[in-house]
Amino acid sequence: MSNAGSYEERLKDFDWSIAENELGYHKGDLINIGWYCSDRICLKGKADKMALYYEGYDGIEKKYTFNDIRLAGNTIGTFLRNLGLQNEDRICLFMDRIPELYLSFLGILKIGAIVQPLFSAFGDESLFVRLEDAQTRAIITQRKHLPKVRKIIDKLPFLEFVIIVDNDQKKTLEKKELPFDLESASPVENFEIFPSVAETPSLLHYTSGTTGQPKGVQHVHYSIVSQYLTTKWILDLQDDDIYWCTADPGWVTGTSYGIIGPWSMGITQCVLDAGFSAQTWYKFIEKYKISMWYSAPTAIRSLMKAGEDIVKDFNLTSLRHLASVGEPLNSEAVIWSEKVFGKPFHDTFWQTETGSIMISNFPGMKIKPGSMGKPFPGITGAVLEPKTFTPIPDNGKIGLIAFKPGWPAMMRGYWKKEEKYREKFVNGWYLTGDRATIDKEGYFWFIGRDDDVINTGGHLVSPFEVESALLEHPAVAESAVVAKPDEIMMEVVKAFITLKPGFESHPDLELEIMNFIRKKLSSMAMPQEIEYMDKLPKTRSGKIMRRVLHAKEWGEEIGDISTLEDD
Ligand code: WT7
Repeated sequence: MSNAGSYEERLKDFDWSIAENELGYHKGDLINIGWYCSDRICLKGKADKMALYYEGYDGIEKKYTFNDIRLAGNTIGTFLRNLGLQNEDRICLFMDRIPELYLSFLGILKIGAIVQPLFSAFGDESLFVRLEDAQTRAIITQRKHLPKVRKIIDKLPFLEFVIIVDNDQKKTLEKKELPFDLESASPVENFEIFPSVAETPSLLHYTSGTTGQPKGVQHVHYSIVSQYLTTKWILDLQDDDIYWCTADPGWVTGTSYGIIGPWSMGITQCVLDAGFSAQTWYKFIEKYKISMWYSAPTAIRSLMKAGEDIVKDFNLTSLRHLASVGEPLNSEAVIWSEKVFGKPFHDTFWQTETGSIMISNFPGMKIKPGSMGKPFPGITGAVLEPKTFTPIPDNGKIGLIAFKPGWPAMMRGYWKKEEKYREKFVNGWYLTGDRATIDKEGYFWFIGRDDDVINTGGHLVSPFEVESALLEHPAVAESAVVAKPDEIMMEVVKAFITLKPGFESHPDLELEIMNFIRKKLSSMAMPQEIEYMDKLPKTRSGKIMRRVLHAKEWGEEIGDISTLEDD
């Protein structure tokens, strides 16, 4: 039996108080995600239940009960508090998917500070702009990532503490650096949790836009109300499930559904901190008897490519329910998964800004492969006519995906970017920046983004950030970055550049530029190709037209180029 119940039934009389009641929360109560994800589960009699199974690169295995994660959160919280860190301070998590990442998340929230999770593959430049913007006070990291932090620390006056969770005693530390070893720290049984309320800030997740630097998306503790109920109904987690969310907590899926959702329900989850291969993944599912699996289209397409035969080498019968997020889930992938796993992947659509799933293939609802499904109960979704911003009736015409604001996990603002935040709302609708159609039965069909942001393997890449990194190379005069098609990732990054006088286009130079920007960006933002141009297409006002280059890559009509410089 699924938790979900019938979609139509759920729509009737829906109210978020359903989740509040189940969480035992009443308006005006204290509410702390760290407490809800650990202490409360222990109080409900599940202290000895497994919360986390972890497996690392090197085959290292660790496991933690809900009581263990409660104590770890207290212990880390105490350590941070003793440093003088407090509520509203931004504390960055910059680690691989090791247990300390998940446990520090709870500790930071328990002291009322704001978690700023950053993907550990970020290069120093990507790290720097986000730490500078957030005026981050402390960063929790691993020895292996220290060189990146050391490179930028002198430019970050607000950064007071660099906490290293795996320090080797023999290694010397530099200024501001201090070790913290969870395993040897004495566990803190009693801890005074910061008295956070619904609107107390919880997370600051950075997301990429088309123009300008990445934006910090502000969330609050009350978001748990959405995350809890969508996890329960859409991911359909049940008490004896073993759950695997493949996303890294550097991205919102890895926090909303890789920490908060499952642990607020007291569900056992598994974390695999190892590179991708079909064998590794199937073996992990078999070994831990994963029953609910939340992943992404690029991973699914990679598994498809690895073929069906390898699936037969593993016992995957534990799988009960599958879901996907982050990029378009093509119908072939849904049909394939039904064939080889006996279950379809249920597509879900949402964003860093929405904090929780907005549109989904609700369990039990008829799946139309290739469609994202329908809005979650309590969510009013529409596609808007792009000029008037009024809803288009369900007639298959393309419009802008928009939602009526007001669900619990909705972002509360962009950090220090009030105007950019306001621009996201028109006529009382929140604009996602995506385009879709709605069919006669109310199913949403994703068309594409409404801006130049590149979605490569489910990761949003800002063309601006890559262009800026390119421009720092002495040979590069101008740059324009667009998506090009890719069989597995759907989109990959492609750069066009013009060179400064005195530089010759040459494969060696391309390699040199690649190496130059690799250190600044993360691997997934790296261009797969750099093409030299004599000049870039520009508007008369001098703005580079990525649209023209994009159309060229996708073999599409270029459209209106009347503002082009040399038409
Ligand atoms: C953007 C948000 C929230 C989870 C991870 C991404 C794209 C997301 C789907 C989907 C097609 C999707 C959209 C959206 N996207 N889910 N099911 N089908 N596209 O969070 O990094 O904020 O990215 O990812 O373009 O706006 P994010």
